[in-house]
Order: sequence, then structure tokens, then C-alpha cells
Amino acid sequence: MTIRVLSIASEAVPLVKTGGLADVVGALPGAVVAHDVAMTTLLPGYPAVMAGLGKTKAIHSWPALLGEPARLLAGTIGGHRLMVLDAPGFFRREGGPYVDGAGRDWADNGLRFAAFSRAAADIASGAVRGETFDIAHAHDWQAAMAAAYLRFAPAGEAPPSLVTIHNMAFQGHYPRALFDQLDLPAEAWAINGVEYHGGVGFLKAGLEAAWAITTVSPTYAREIRSPEFGMGLDGLIRARAGQVHGIVNGIDAHDWNPAHDPHLAAPFTARTLGRRAANTAAIEAEFGLAPGTGPLFVVISRLTWQKGMDVLLQGLDHLVGCGARLALLGSGDKALEAGFVAAAGRHPGRIAVRIGYDEALSHRMQGGGDAILVPSRFEPCGLTQLYGLAYGCVPVVSRTGGLVDTVVDANLARSRRGLPPAYNSTR
Ligand code: ADP
Ligand code: GLC
Repeated sequence: MTIRVLSIASEAVPLVKTGGLADVVGALPGAVVAHDVAMTTLLPGYPAVMAGLGKTKAIHSWPALLGEPARLLAGTIGGHRLMVLDAPGFFRREGGPYVDGAGRDWADNGLRFAAFSRAAADIASGAVRGETFDIAHAHDWQAAMAAAYLRFAPAGEAPPSLVTIHNMAFQGHYPRALFDQLDLPAEAWAINGVEYHGGVGFLKAGLEAAWAITTVSPTYAREIRSPEFGMGLDGLIRARAGQVHGIVNGIDAHDWNPAHDPHLAAPFTARTLGRRAANTAAIEAEFGLAPGTGPLFVVISRLTWQKGMDVLLQGLDHLVGCGARLALLGSGDKALEAGFVAAAGRHPGRIAVRIGYDEALSHRMQGGGDAILVPSRFEPCGLTQLYGLAYGCVPVVSRTGGLVDTVVDANLARSRRGLPPAYNSTR
């Protein structure tokens, strides 16, 4: 029997991406199809999404969805079903999905993603003629309220809901005043409802309401039971431990395949690893690094505290002193951006930095780098280490979250197979 799932998310490749969430949401429909799961993805109609849509059909409308007119468009994404919530008052504006052109959060983010979640709950509970779903699957705080709407105010029969935590650090907290705009019954204002420390907590509300909770690795599922990683919601996670499951992310093996990656100077396979040298030379030239002089580390990352980028910055002079080179692609905290640019200035030919976001360059760096550094303080799963593993760019990672589950020490892997150690370990 085919299971019909509505996957509700604020971003998905190839239409809109700010991080790994988009990779996973975009790849999921193709990954579950083999298990007889028919997944429809619901996205907000940002300009990039509207521009990237092929042929669509309007299948539903709301005269006032939390105050704004909206309609639902049906199309496809990567050959799978897509629904887009076209609510111009909430989503048709230039800037990012969550921030304006100057990098400030949109002032009405609470209402925007509540409206998105309200629409998702309507769709999942039968408001759209001819559409029925067996499971509503909401990703992160931007979609989590869908589970709360399904619990407190479904349009019809509510299917079971699943909330996936991609990152506990982002929870969607808003003042009490927002509650009056959410169109929820008074009973939802409760400690086991949407209330959180006197305001509204979107992720909290979703985790309370969801039938099941998943996160993106088994280690992170354990870590978020502790105050250090639970970020205020560890008590809730402990209370619902029986419903919390850690399932490690996968990657889209078509988009991320070195054998036929259109971004690489020289595509290669595990048998033709020697060809990587041409990709390394291309990266050296592109970044202006001194060719062939020591290991080439790469970093492709948001430049934030989570990612441990301040720690890397502190260690850079030492790294270069040991003979290494670094090519970094990233953007984020302005102080970190400036710090890496300054380090590149101190070490011309050894450290080179590209501040910005460049999907094609990220593929080339995985194809040419010797090792990818992921020094995260916490990492629910992480995808760049998985791309590194697929591209022969050795991941060097912190021992946290999904990095623990996906990067296995060579000696450990060998000992499990009864083989002697590959290198001398001091531990
Ligand atoms: P997170 O979602 O926490 O940022 P992940 O490792 O799960 O971390 O996913 C990050 C995704 O974003 C990967 O696909 C990575 O290649 C990509 N990425 C991060 N920074 C950049 C950048 N500056 N340019 C291109 N891609 C980037
Ligand atoms: C979040 C996490 C990252 C994870 C991604 C996709 O952005 O920070 O670790 O890989 O979501 O699940």
C-alpha cells in the first residue's frame, strides 16, 4: 500500500537553499519512493520558487490565510509532486527566505511561518478536494506549527504528524501577542501546547503535538536529551523519549556523484582517484594557492559559532606553520568573515578565502581538496562530510552529533574487520 506523505519545509533544492535542510528535503522524495512512499513537498512561494516553477495548476485558495489571500499551486520538483503556497503578502519579497537584504530577520517571520503551517495543516487534513495524506511531515520550526494546527484546529480528519528536528538551535520564539493572530483555540495556550516561557514557541509546540519526532542522527537524538544540546527543550525531549528517533541523513547520489559531476574539471571514480589531481590543480589556480606544496584543506560552511569557525581561525597560523594550505568558502558572522580574510592576507598562497555562497565551487572543492574540515561545536548531522566521503576529500571532524555516526575512524573500521591498524594512534 502506498503511503502518501506531505513533506512541509521552508526550503528544498533545487528551488531554494540556505543550508543542509534544503538538500535533505529535496532528496527525500526520491529516497523514499523505493519504500512505496509517495511524497508531496510543500514550499512557500518565495520569488525564487515562483521563478523556478515549471507548469503549475492552482488547486485551492484561501481568501484570508491569517489575514492574507493565498492560493495553492501544484507542480513538480525533481519529478516528484510539489505544492507551493503562493501568499504574496507573506512570501513575495526580495531578500532571503528568513532575512531581508540587510540580513535582518523579517519582522513578521512568526506570522509568515504560522500561515505556512496553517495552510499545511489544512492540506494534510483534507481541505483540498481530491488530496488526502496519511502522514504530515514537518521540518524544523518553520513548519512545526503544522503539527499544532493539526492537533488543535484541523480542517477535517487529521493524519498522524511527524516533526523532524534539523537543528535545535533555531526554535522560533515569539511574544505572547502573536498568539492572538494565530487563529488557534484558547486551549492551545498551555504549557503542553504552544506556550513557551510566556511567549509562543513554534518548535516546542510542534514537538508537543507531533505523533513522532525524528532528528537527523542517532547521536544527536541522544545529545538533545541534555541541557547542553537540548537548548531549553531537553526536558520535553526526555519526556517524549519513546517517540524520539535518530535517523541519519543521506545524500542525493545523483547530484553528488564525482563520476559525472558537471562542475568538476576531471570527473573520477574510486578506481580513477588519480584524476583528482587535475581537480586539485584547478582549485589551486582558482584560489591562487601555491601549487603542490602541502596538504590542501577545504572548508565549505556557514561561518558561525555552531560550526566552530572561531576555533579554526585561532588555529590557522599553526596549521600553515605545519605546512598546510586552506581554501575556504563561506559566509555568516561578519567578524569571522573579516578574520578569515585577514588570515588570507597574512598567508598569501597558503590561505585563500571566498566569502559568499557558490554551489558549483563547493562541488569543485570537494573534488579537489585533500581533506575537509568540520570543527563543529554541535552538528545534528552535517552534509559536507558526507559529500567529502563521496568525493575522496577526507573528513576531519569534531566528535559530535551526526559527525560521530558518519565518520568512522580508519583504525576502528579496520579492527571491526579484524585488520591491523592503518596508523599509530595515541589514544
Ligand atoms: P548546515 O545546514 O548546518 O549549514 P550542513 O552540513 O547540513 O550544515 O549543510 C550545509 C549545506 O550548505 C551543504 O550542502 C554545503 O555544501 C552547503 N554550503 C554551506 N556553505 C556554502 C557556501 N558558502 N557555498 C556553497 N554551499 C555551501
Ligand atoms: C541543519 C543542521 C545540519 C544538518 C542539516 C540537514 O542545518 O545544522 O547538521 O545536516 O540541518 O539535516
